Parts: sequence; C-alpha cells; structure tokens
Amino acid sequence: MTALTPPPTPASPITIAIAGCGNRGYGYATFAKHFPQWLKVVAVADHHDFRCQQLAKEHDIPPKNIFKDWTEMASVPKLSDAVAICTTDREHTDPAIAFANLKYNILLEKPMSINIEECVKIHQAVVANNVILAVCHVLRYTNYTKAIRRILDSNVLGDIVNIQHLEPVGFWVGDFSTFPIFIFNAGNWHNEEASTFSLLSKSCHDIDLVTYMMGSKCKKVSSFGSLSHFTKKNKPKEAGNSVNCLDCSYEKSCPYSAKKIYIDNYVNKSWTGWPINVVQPKDPIDLENLTDALRKKDYGRCVYEMDNDVVDHQVVNMHFENGSTSSFTMVAFTESMCDRKTRIFGTLGELEGDGADTIKVFDFLTQTTKVVHPSTDSDNLPMSGHGGGDFSLMQAFVYACVTGNQNYVISGPQETLDTHIYCFAAEHARKTGTVVDIDEFKKSLYK
Ligand SMILES: NC(=O)c1ccc[n+]([C@@H]2O[C@H](COP(=O)([O-])OP(=O)(O)OC[C@H]3O[C@@H](n4cnc5c(N)ncnc54)[C@H](O)[C@@H]3O)[C@@H](O)[C@H]2O)c1
Repeated sequence: MTALTPPPTPASPITIAIAGCGNRGYGYATFAKHFPQWLKVVAVADHHDFRCQQLAKEHDIPPKNIFKDWTEMASVPKLSDAVAICTTDREHTDPAIAFANLKYNILLEKPMSINIEECVKIHQAVVANNVILAVCHVLRYTNYTKAIRRILDSNVLGDIVNIQHLEPVGFWVGDFSTFPIFIFNAGNWHNEEASTFSLLSKSCHDIDLVTYMMGSKCKKVSSFGSLSHFTKKNKPKEAGNSVNCLDCSYEKSCPYSAKKIYIDNYVNKSWTGWPINVVQPKDPIDLENLTDALRKKDYGRCVYEMDNDVVDHQVVNMHFENGSTSSFTMVAFTESMCDRKTRIFGTLGELEGDGADTIKVFDFLTQTTKVVHPSTDSDNLPMSGHGGGDFSLMQAFVYACVTGNQNYVISGPQETLDTHIYCFAAEHARKTGTVVDIDEFKKSLYK
C-alpha cells in the first residue's frame, strides 16, 4: 500500500461541527487549535452545558451555533463541511444517517452502531450521499501500526500464516464495573442491555486491527468467553455488606479499591488529567469533588456488587479467505494496560510487537533479528492520544475532506462495516457455541 501525498494547505480551513463534546469530541477539536489553517470548529452540540461553553469559548463558536442536542444541529441548514459524531455508543446511528443525508463529511466514533442492521444502514447512507466517512479506529493510525504495516508491505515475513493478538485490558480498567473509565464510561458499559457487548465496545479495535494486518477478509469465526470474576459470588467475605469502596473495611487488601486507584494513585499525587477528569468532569478537580463523585457514581462502587454481565475474558478465532488464521485474546487481569501484544508468523519470518515501541523481526533465511523502534514520540505530537493515532486519524480525515478523496482514510465505510460484522458474528458464535460462516451471516443482513 502506498501512502497518498499530503495535499497542499487549503485556501480556507475545512469547517467542522462537533456532536458530543465529551472526552473524544473535545480531543478531536484540538486539531483545529494546532492547525487552524486546516480545520476550524464552527458549531457544537451537547446536553452538557459546561462542555459546550468550554468548547465554544476555546474555538470562538458563536452562540447561535451552540446546541443542546445533535438533533437541533441537524435541523438547521448545513453549518460546516464536516461533523464529528462523538456521542455515546447508542447515539451514533441516527446522527450518522441524518448528517450523511445533509451531505456532511463524517468522522464517526466507534462502534459505528451497537446494532448490526444499523451499521449497514449507516454504510448505505454514506455511500448513497457520497460523503466521506472516517470511523475512529485510531489503532490503524498509530506510529506503531504504521511501522508494522511497512514491515508487512516489504514482504520480509513472506505470506502471513497466523496472527496472535492479545489485548491486555489492565486489571484496574478491566474491572468492568467499578472503574468503567474510558471503556465503560459513566458506569454504562458494564451491562450489555444498557450499552453493548464488550467485544464491540472495547475490542472492535482489535478485530479491526488483526484484519488490517492480515490484509484478507474473514471467512469463519468462533469465540469463547465469560464473566468469570466480577460477580457477587467472588466478593471477599471480609468486605461484608459494603457497596462502596470508601466505606469498606477490606478496601486496603482489595486490588480493585476505587480509593487506591483514583485517590491514592492520582489525586493525592496532584494528577487531575485522565482518568480523573472522566470520573469527575467538574471544576475544580480536587479531592473533595472526586470523593463526592466516587460516592454518587458507579466509579466508587464495589466491583463485586454491580449488575455486570459483560465478559472479563474472551477469545476469538478467525479463519481468513487467504487460508490464514488468527487468535485474539482479551483479558482484564493484566498488569499492562491496553498495550496490545502481537505476533505475526509468516513463511519467511516472524514478527513480535510489544504494542508500544518495540517490534522484533526474525528472518528465517539469515537467522537474524532486527529490532524496530517506531517513532512513538507521540508526546511531541500536538495530539498524543492513542500513540499518535488520534492525530493521524484527524489528519487523514481533514486531507480527505480537502481533496474529496476518501482513500486518505484507512478506516472507511467498507472496511469498517466488514470488521464490525466480524465482531457481531464472533459474539453470535460465543453465545450459540457455533462456528459462524461470515457469508451466511451477511446473507441474513441483506435479505
Ligand atoms: N476511538 C477510541 O479509541 C475511543 C475511545 C474512547 C471512546 N470512544 C467512543 O467515543 C464515543 C464518545 O466517548 P467519550 O469517551 O467521549 O464519552 P463522553 O461521555 O465523554 O462524551 C459523550 C458526549 O456525548 C454527549 N451526548 C450524548 N447524547 C447526545 C446528544 N443526543 N446530542 C449531543 N450530545 C450528546 C454527552 O453529553 C457527552 O458529553 C463513544 O461512542 C465511545 O465508545 C472511542
């Protein structure tokens, strides 16, 4: 795959409206601050008045372009070239279709939708309206992934035969109930009925990434997994009837203590950034407000006392059209947090990536190992989130909007729809204990 040449700076910046200016929407908008010649934020919609006003102030958005809900923003004539849809998971389909029909180019947070038929509808609306779609599969855009992609494209590994991929969620993030930070934000993602299954909400990135590395379509999928630990049955007896870590006498001995994780690890060390600003997005972020948030919201609740039903470990096996296979494991019980480990086995060599800054490539012919350190100097990027992935995604989306060329985006409508379908198929396989044939599965969608 050859990367496209960046376009020249446009005469005037692409204009963008932000629908949902929480953690993600606010973050993407910062691209405009760093590159005002490329992007300008001209409108915002969010229920959250403080967030709207903050964004409006920072981007000089006129009051008439501040809305309480994306539906209000979509009810006025088109305001900008593009829209970033960064609302919560259940609020993706309707805005995506509405803004596509209004001919906005769309940056859409993952998952496209929590409903497979709706993913198809979004794809159809985008294609029918001929607008650009970039789904925020940021892992495709990191320096680390780019380095792996370059190695694969150089053919040093030969044909890929198998990929092993691990998502170590991190024991304190993976606790899907008490510490639902960015995965199970606002306490909503621990319960499938209230949000969606965790393979989609969390690991759709990984199914997408494995497919991207494999460079082939998935043919069949199987999956196993369950919620094994975070249940009432496993609550330590010593914790008694406590439901909030702040009142629990066993808290000091519990690795999942909210007090230890949020107060001792962060606020008591004067840290007020992520994840504290998500647990407690109020000014000022201090011990008093955080303690209040831990008492009132699910973040402070005992992990064993929630109505969890999403898995804390899952494996997904995929068989691809090129005959290759992959196995993916998501597990909550890890020291490492989200640094995905990947091993790629080819006919000429083997690659091992640590998910951060070291990729080892062993060449079977020369029997030597080359170590690549992708430039993970993402702290020096204007937007460092996701190892530089947030920045590169925005850049690709803006380039696509400037040129009208969807190909700048490597997480466009078709590839994203496909990998979302694999997630739904894998979850179906897990729940029914079957092997799912993707073509058969798709037939049920396009009746
Ligand atoms: N790409 C990634 O790596 C990544 C990482 C985290 C989250 N996400 C996804 O991004 C999305 C947003 O996540 P977040 O962490 O920013 O959540 P958040 O809760 O911080 O922000 C969501 C915002 O949407 C607003 N909102 C909800 N309904 C709305 C409506 N009808 N109109 C206008 N605003 C509305 C909420 O008030 C909130 O401010 C989610 O779908 C999430 O799954 C993606």
